[in-house]
Amino acid sequence: MLQFDLLATDASSHARRGQLTLNHGVVQTPIFMPVGTYGTVKGVMPRSLEEMGAQIILGNTFHLWMRPGLDVMASFGGLHAFEQWHKPILTDSGGFQVWSLGDMRKITEEGVHFASPVNGDKLFMSPEVSMQIQTALNSDIVMQLDECTPYETKGHITTEDEARRSMEMSIRWAKRSQNEFARLNNPNALFGIVQGGMFEHLRQESLEQLVALDFPGYAVGGVSVGEPKEDMRRIMAHTPHRLPAHKPRYLMGVGTPEDLVEGVASGVDMFDCVMPTRNARNGTVFTRYGDLKVRNARHKQDHQPLDTSCSCHACAGVSGISWDKGGRAGFSRAYLHHLDRCGEMLGPMLTTIHNLHYYLNLMQEVRDALEHNRFSAFRQQFATDRSRGI
Ligand code: GUN
Ligand code: ZN
Repeated sequence: MLQFDLLATDASSHARRGQLTLNHGVVQTPIFMPVGTYGTVKGVMPRSLEEMGAQIILGNTFHLWMRPGLDVMASFGGLHAFEQWHKPILTDSGGFQVWSLGDMRKITEEGVHFASPVNGDKLFMSPEVSMQIQTALNSDIVMQLDECTPYETKGHITTEDEARRSMEMSIRWAKRSQNEFARLNNPNALFGIVQGGMFEHLRQESLEQLVALDFPGYAVGGVSVGEPKEDMRRIMAHTPHRLPAHKPRYLMGVGTPEDLVEGVASGVDMFDCVMPTRNARNGTVFTRYGDLKVRNARHKQDHQPLDTSCSCHACAGVSGISWDKGGRAGFSRAYLHHLDRCGEMLGPMLTTIHNLHYYLNLMQEVRDALEHNRFSAFRQQFATDRSRGI
């Protein structure tokens, strides 16, 4: 089941404020969804995710199929009980992971043959298999199996002909996904995925064919696949607002804080990206005034928190009151620099909490701005602040 209510729309862009009701709860949009590939958002306890306001997280069909496997997931009645996260979950279908396998796979009309990266077993992923796995996972939002058209393969940029063939197969896989999802009586919601590479007319054809299939929600895939930033922004500006206004729109695998705010302006409701979590583990944190590298020697004696305006557990401690507002209980840059130098695991745990809080709070600010008819001013102030530098 899925219900989507539009609560407000912006006059100067395609931005919208909405509310998405799913089997495991309600999600306020626009939203960022933390990535929990293996049934864990790396280094973060579910209660911390709740504390920072996460409303929905991702899981991955492909990875969870490899380990722990379908029988274990089914014995728990799905991913929620297994990973102890009781709010909504979206699972990606495996389409993106399969193409990441490179030479280890063979894609045919029927599906994808590949060798397990875990033990070398011969495996087969098809739209039907993906739906069977995602049904066992009981994720609130199920993604169709698609072929994520790469920007470049074997040294050449994907041609229009290649992008068309790939997009057309994804449409056939969308229909097969939909049939299998219905046959399994899956009580959740299935999203279609727009492909078409960097070609706007192919994107248009893809979305028209998917809209005719009447999915409860739509994703834009095949971006952030190695293309120049301007191509990503061009597709992001082209596609989302052409999708049905009364259904949720999800931009897959994007992006920087700037991409998120511009994505919202283009009409996107949902985002996911490994950037906040992955960068945190490499010691790069996002702040209101730009990015900061924990490893930099200039932080050795710095008593300030990562972001003085942040109220996350890393920056404001248990009080939840930011440094700017008189809070003094948070962890300092000097301490995080020290943890990094010593390779202590608390370092990446704290930077991950901070980065996720930053992304989730940014979306909260976007929602507030949309509710109060000041998204356009917010968008400008955000860009100014972020380029100031820290
Ligand atoms: N994650 C990022 N991009 C994609 C895509 O095009 N397809 C799928 N299934 N997942 C993605
Ligand atoms: Zn913080």
